[in-house]
Amino acid sequence: MDFLCLFILLLLLFFQWTAAPAAAEISWTYTGLVGQTEWAQYFPYCGATSQSPVDVVTTQTKYDPSLIPLTPLGYNQHGYKPFTLFNNGHTAGILLPEWMGVSGLPWLFTAVQMHLHWGSGGPSYGGSEHTINGLSADAELHVVHYNSELYPNMSTAMTQRNGLAVLGILIVTGEETNLAFNNILNYLGRVRHADQSVSIPAFDVQSLLPKDLGRYYRYNGSLTTPPCYQSVIWTLFHERVQISKAQLLKMETILYSSKAEEKDRMLLQDNYRETQPLNHRVIFTSFTAESGKELSSGEVTAIVIGVMCGCVGLAVIVRFIVKTIRMNEPEKKQDVDLNMTSEGEKKEEPSLPPQTEP
Ligand SMILES: *[C@@H]1O[C@H](CO)[C@@H](O)[C@H](O)[C@H]1NC(C)=O
Ligand SMILES: *[C@@H]1O[C@H](CO)[C@@H](O)[C@H](O)[C@H]1NC(C)=O
Repeated sequence: MDFLCLFILLLLLFFQWTAAPAAAEISWTYTGLVGQTEWAQYFPYCGATSQSPVDVVTTQTKYDPSLIPLTPLGYNQHGYKPFTLFNNGHTAGILLPEWMGVSGLPWLFTAVQMHLHWGSGGPSYGGSEHTINGLSADAELHVVHYNSELYPNMSTAMTQRNGLAVLGILIVTGEETNLAFNNILNYLGRVRHADQSVSIPAFDVQSLLPKDLGRYYRYNGSLTTPPCYQSVIWTLFHERVQISKAQLLKMETILYSSKAEEKDRMLLQDNYRETQPLNHRVIFTSFTAESGKELSSGEVTAIVIGVMCGCVGLAVIVRFIVKTIRMNEPEKKQDVDLNMTSEGEKKEEPSLPPQTEP
């Protein structure tokens, strides 16, 4: 009897496995039954060898002088047509107009959308997908583009090599409010539930990016969500952008991953994937260690004071030397005079013949 039960159970499991719905229909999550450790069972690429995000170990990166600064195209020409803000249950983001793009990559890429990843514990509790030397930022913005030189649209490009270019921006918290981010955060309350979307006023997308678009990390990776296609040329900017703690808190606590009609509300939190093995890959940098080293205001002050002290010290020494020379001058002159008189008795040396210029 027990054996029969086991047999039936196994049969049911087998049936369930074979009758598993197509990958696109599976509702995955970050934790739980189809959480990120299970993704690879349903989406084979999620278990492949060039996955994202990754931890950037800065001592193991390689400088590539051919990596030129990225140029956002049309990011600040948003026009008057409203943007669409969405909550898809995994993230909140904005669909971007097709005239926006990015150059500075081997192909021209057309913008598709941008979205955010965040944590749940406020500042210093993680939330970013990429990490630098094992350290998380508080959140991360991704601006997604497809290769419009090689492919006709996003759905084709996302499955192909070099099909997508994603800009990754690490977000940290500080005291100041980042007004640019309020263009998104102010409207999150209108898309609290999964599958909701709303029109919001268009705004300057470039204002969300760091100022320095010349210094970044570059590697070949994947979508950080199922189906994890390995089609992404990643650019992770070295400069981070800063938002206030209140802004982070809003991002972390206002949205649900559950739909409006669902009784059990689930907060949309910790929607970031763990870092994946680098395997054979190399992370390239557009900058060298020296140019990448940012000086803190304290260090700058120290250098300025140091240089000033040095200058003052040098001036004092120079003045002392000059003074000493001047004090010794009359005696020296006397010596010279004496020498001259003694030498004057000697035969005058014949003067050199005038030099002729060639
Ligand atoms: C994308 O392009 C492919 C190939 O031309 C086409 O079959 C597909 O329908 C297009 N998809 C969309 C969403 O436009
Ligand atoms: C990404 O892969 C391509 C091969 O498809 C290679 O030419 C390129 O150098 C790689 N880029 C990086 C940053 O590793």
